[in-house]
Amino acid sequence: MAPQVEIMVNGTPVQVNKDVPLLQGLREQNFSIPSLCFNPVLTGNGSCGLCIVEVFQHDGPYLVHSCLLYPRQGLKIKTDTARVKQVRRQAAQLLYSRGPFPKQEVNELLLALIQTENKDGNTITGETGTGSFTGCLLCGLCVRICQKIGRNRLTFVGRGKEMHVELVSERGESCGSCRACCRICPTGYIAPSPQEAFPPKLYK
Ligand code: SF4
Ligand code: FES
Repeated sequence: MAPQVEIMVNGTPVQVNKDVPLLQGLREQNFSIPSLCFNPVLTGNGSCGLCIVEVFQHDGPYLVHSCLLYPRQGLKIKTDTARVKQVRRQAAQLLYSRGPFPKQEVNELLLALIQTENKDGNTITGETGTGSFTGCLLCGLCVRICQKIGRNRLTFVGRGKEMHVELVSERGESCGSCRACCRICPTGYIAPSPQEAFPPKLYK
C-alpha cells in the first residue's frame, strides 16, 4: 500500500498518498480538481494554473499549484474558496483565448470555470483566439513526453503570441511516429496521423 499521510481538505480529514503530487492524491480520493497540464507519467509543471488550491498554515493562507505540492502530515487545504475560484477563472480565460480546442470537453471545462464567478452580475464571456496556433495550450506535455522517451524531437519556438510547438527536423529524420505526443495532448491539437500531426511546415 502506498505510504499515506492525513491532511485536512475543506475541513475534513483525508488520507492521501504522500509520494504523488497533491492533485493526483486528491483525485485518487475522488476530489474533483480541474487541470489540463498534468499527466501522472510526468512530473507536474504548473503550466495551466487550473489546479490551484489554498493552503492554510500559521503564516497565513496562500495559493499553490496542487500538481507541484507533495502532501505532508497535517497539511490543511481548501479547494473551493473564493480566491481559488477567482484565480482559476483568470487562468481559464487566458487558456480559452488560445482556443477553440478540438476536444469539446476542454472548451466546456474552461467555459464552466470562466462562468463560475459570473454570479455577481458581471458579464464574463470567454473569447477564443484567431491566431495560427489556436487549439494548443502550450502545456508542454508533448515536448516533455517526447523527451522522456528519448526521441527529443519537439520543441517550443517563438515568443509571445507566436510561440508554438515544432518538430526538430534538422537531421532530416521523421519523428518516429510513436504517437506519444498525440496520446498525451489534452486538447486534441496533435492529430493521430504523423503526416498531419503539426502544421505542414513542420514536415517540409
Ligand atoms: S500540442 Fe497539445 S500537448 Fe503539446 S503543448 Fe499544445 S496542447 Fe500541450
Ligand atoms: S495541473 Fe497544475 S498547473 Fe496545470
